[in-house]
Order: sequence, then structure tokens, then C-alpha cells
Amino acid sequence: MAEVTAAPTTRKTQTVLGTGSAPGKIIVLGEHAVVYGQPALAAALDRGVRVVVEKDEEGPRLRAPRWGVVAPLSGEEGSAPLSVALERVRAAVAPELTQVALVAEDRLPLGAGLGSSAALTVASARALAAAAGRELTVDRLTEVVHAAEQVFHGNPSGVDQATVVRGGVIQFQRSPGGTPSIRPVNAARPIPVVVALERPHVGTKEAVEGLRRRRDRHPRTLDLLLGELGALCTEGTAAVEKGDLVTLGELMDLAHGILSALGVSSSDLDGLVQFARSQGALGAKLTGAGVGGAMIALTDGDPDRARQLVLAFRARGASAFACELG
Ligand code: PMV
Repeated sequence: MAEVTAAPTTRKTQTVLGTGSAPGKIIVLGEHAVVYGQPALAAALDRGVRVVVEKDEEGPRLRAPRWGVVAPLSGEEGSAPLSVALERVRAAVAPELTQVALVAEDRLPLGAGLGSSAALTVASARALAAAAGRELTVDRLTEVVHAAEQVFHGNPSGVDQATVVRGGVIQFQRSPGGTPSIRPVNAARPIPVVVALERPHVGTKEAVEGLRRRRDRHPRTLDLLLGELGALCTEGTAAVEKGDLVTLGELMDLAHGILSALGVSSSDLDGLVQFARSQGALGAKLTGAGVGGAMIALTDGDPDRARQLVLAFRARGASAFACELG
């Protein structure tokens, strides 16, 4: 059985065969509802994951010094999800490369709902393709990454992968049994947000399954709420296209209320959202799977006020950073 172990502190300089990178992502509106066919509005972050493929006689394996991880890539039953997911990527993109290490560096917190797993798999696929001297089309990359993400997410909607693969701001919607609709969104102005992190979330798979169980028990109410999240996303996309941050903030507040009612927030996330509003944010909500993880606060675009909000979050003990989406 493959195990994830702590990284050794020293390593020899190795031959670099290829590199690849990919951004993290933020779901602005529509998380969870997107699993049930509603639209979601998502944007790539200005930070992500970089992977270097190096020669490694003990490969194939992942080395991620910042996470303190060395993990053999393995499809064997019982292997760690990270090992299985990256082995799927390697086998699909560059099966002939066995004595290699994927060395990952990131500027993204793990397990926070900021797309770290999709960014890692996309960056790995790009680095392996470069190492093998192979072209990867967007469609092929999406397919490979979707297969890998199934290890982490069970039945992912595909919004994370689509955003991380394409970058920019997109509106994503699943279509029953078919190709999802992915529409690039032309933001009239960048969307200024402060991202604050609570402790790692319970896991996307667990959060999605918890909601599915609640929906089985209360289908009428939950379908109504999920449909409302979809409607808020459609209005929010129009607000982004117009550059109307005030309306977008109001829609984010409404979406957070619904996500709380759906049971995917947490008292800590609710606290951060309330705090952001009390500090003058135009709106605030959880982002991603919830039940821990990250929240976003929309600011008015003034960098000084965004910095003040970051400092205010940090003074409360939450880690936070400011960024502009789109
Ligand atoms: O992996 P996260 O935390 O970004 O959540 C993914 C978004 C969900 O809508 C909760 C799940 C999905 O597959 O779309």
C-alpha cells in the first residue's frame, strides 16, 4: 500500500524535464447548486501551483516540500487519494515517464476550497506533457483532470477544473449527461475580494454528500433553495458584466444565507461573514464546498480598504489575502 510520508529535508539537484503551472479558483456564486445543474460563476486566482518534473530513480512520486509530503504515485487499492489522482494523470499524459518526480510548489492553502487539488492536477498534467514533448488540448486536459478529480470529489460538477484549465471568469453549467456549457464572462471591472480562511473544510466529497442526504429528506425545500442559488448566479453574472459591485455584494449576502440554510456553512464561517460585513464589505459569503474552508468578502476596489480588511481578519486570527478576480 502506498503511503504519504514526511519529505526528507535535503535532496540532490536533479535534471528538470518539464514544468507546468495552474491557478487556484474562487467560486463567486453557485457552489453546490452547480452539482444539481444550476449555473455557477467562478474565477481563476492570481496564485496557484507550479510543478516541475524531475528525473528520480525512486519515481514515479510526488514531492511537495512545502506540504512536507513525499508520496509514490500508485493506482493500487488503498493508496492515498493524492497518489491515485496523480497516477491517473501520469498514466494518461506520459505513461512512459516512470522514473520521475513531480515536485510541487504552491501559493495556495490546501483543502480550503480554493481549487488546490485541481490546480495540482492541471499543473502536473502540463508539466508531464512538457516533459514528454506532447501537446495537450484544453478538452483532453479537462478530461484527464476530471478523471483525477473524481478521486477527491466523487462526482465533481467540473466547475473547478473548467476554471483552473481556462483561467479568467466563467459561467459554468452542467448539462444532463452531456458536455457542460462554459461561457467566458467579460467582467466590466475586476472583482476585488478579500479571501479569509477558516480551518480546512471537512472535504468536498463529504460536504456534497451531506447536502445530498438532506435533499433526499426535504426535496421540495432544498430544490427551491438550490434553484434560488442558480437565479442569484445568473443575476450576479449580469452584475459582473456591468461592473455593478453593490448589486453583486447584495447577491453574495443572499447566497450565503441560502448556503447556511442548506447546512454547508459553519459557525466560524458565519462569524467571518458577519465580521466582514461589519467592516464595510459590500457583501460576503462562503466559497467552495463550505463546512469550514474559505469565505470571500467583496470590497469596493479601494486597495487601502482591502488591506485594512485583511489586517482586521488577521487580528481576529484568520489568515487572509486580497486579490482581484478577472
Ligand atoms: O472543491 P471546492 O471546495 O471548491 O468545492 C467544489 C464546488 C462544489 O460545488 C461544492 C462541488 C462541485 O463539484 O461543484
